[in-house]
Amino acid sequence: MALAFPVTIHPSPALGAVIEERLADPGFGRYFTDHMALATWRKDTGWGEDSTGPYTSFAIDPAGAVLHYAQEVFEGLKAYRHADGSVWLFRPEMNARRLIRSAERLGLPTLPEEDFMTSVRNVVIADERWVPNGEGEMSLYLRPFMFADENFLGVRPAETVRYAVIASPVGPYFDGGVKPVDIWVTTTYSRAGTGGTGAAKCGGNYASSLIAQKEAYEHGCGQVLFTDATTHTWLEELGGMNIFLVTDDGRLLTPPTSGTILDGITRDSILTLAPELGLGAEVRPVALDARRERAVRQGRRGVRVRHGRGRHTDRPVPPRGDRPSVRHTTAGHLDHGDPQPSARHPVRARRRPVRLAPQGLLRPAPDPPPSWVSR
Ligand SMILES: Cc1ncc(COP(=O)(O)O)c(C=O)c1O
Repeated sequence: MALAFPVTIHPSPALGAVIEERLADPGFGRYFTDHMALATWRKDTGWGEDSTGPYTSFAIDPAGAVLHYAQEVFEGLKAYRHADGSVWLFRPEMNARRLIRSAERLGLPTLPEEDFMTSVRNVVIADERWVPNGEGEMSLYLRPFMFADENFLGVRPAETVRYAVIASPVGPYFDGGVKPVDIWVTTTYSRAGTGGTGAAKCGGNYASSLIAQKEAYEHGCGQVLFTDATTHTWLEELGGMNIFLVTDDGRLLTPPTSGTILDGITRDSILTLAPELGLGAEVRPVALDARRERAVRQGRRGVRVRHGRGRHTDRPVPPRGDRPSVRHTTAGHLDHGDPQPSARHPVRARRRPVRLAPQGLLRPAPDPPPSWVSR
């Protein structure tokens, strides 16, 4: 049976003046709203104990399995207020489906898409006051997550699992607002390998990326870009986002996800909209080395490439083909020199216009107070 996440309104929610002050400068992930959704999965009975109610702490036992084995997955999506006051979620069903894929990979139970939607919708409706007015990249960030909720030190999938949704008003992700950031390319650390958890949105991926992120900060860069774990030849993704490269003639390049890269909803949306906007988009392996990249683009084989300490002859092959033995010995800024238009790689993004489907949640605030739930 579908979960209802019945709503109990907080008896003493934040004062309007407090919310106003926080929305004036929310930062990112700093403040949390009045409500949260909860559900519990038990091996014998499945999902239940669902509710939407006051935001509260968890009591964590020192033997809590998630503290030791990190059996945890999460999602991130936003609710936006439009100029007419209505509130919308952007493609939330994609997050619901990705949470299912992540949970499967981490040995967690899957939460049906319908239940995910109800939980997220109920939190946004209960916390409608916390949805910013949409100016300056502001939105209400929603964080659904699921974790092993069992006090047990044996290594096995948990038999009790907790699901929750919390919300946080946010401004731009980067401190400096919406402006270019320098990117540090690491070829020392890897984010994901074949058969690993790269395609899942799980905490462990982020924990292992932090040392490289730290290195990026130390070099004055705002994000780190990872390369493939085997050869450090091919661009994969950044610590917290997918990568697109823009060529001089305005074409978009992005690597295929291939199991090691998170299947971003922004990435999918860009690839979906690019042809509608008259932009060529290519999904293909993108080499870190400028000469190798040029060779891939021009379809040449057997190119000499200088890397680190030596000279090597490599064929420009995609990450899943024969792996070249070249390794970078140092990390550095990405410089692809002078990208040229490619005549040989056809546009592979979907060409048929596809409408993205944001989901309207709340109608413009009516007068008198809301009865605004729309489905
Ligand atoms: C590692 C990583 N890749 C890609 C993305 C982009 O995903 P989406 O576009 O679905 O937000 C994220 C977002 O948090 C991420 O953490």
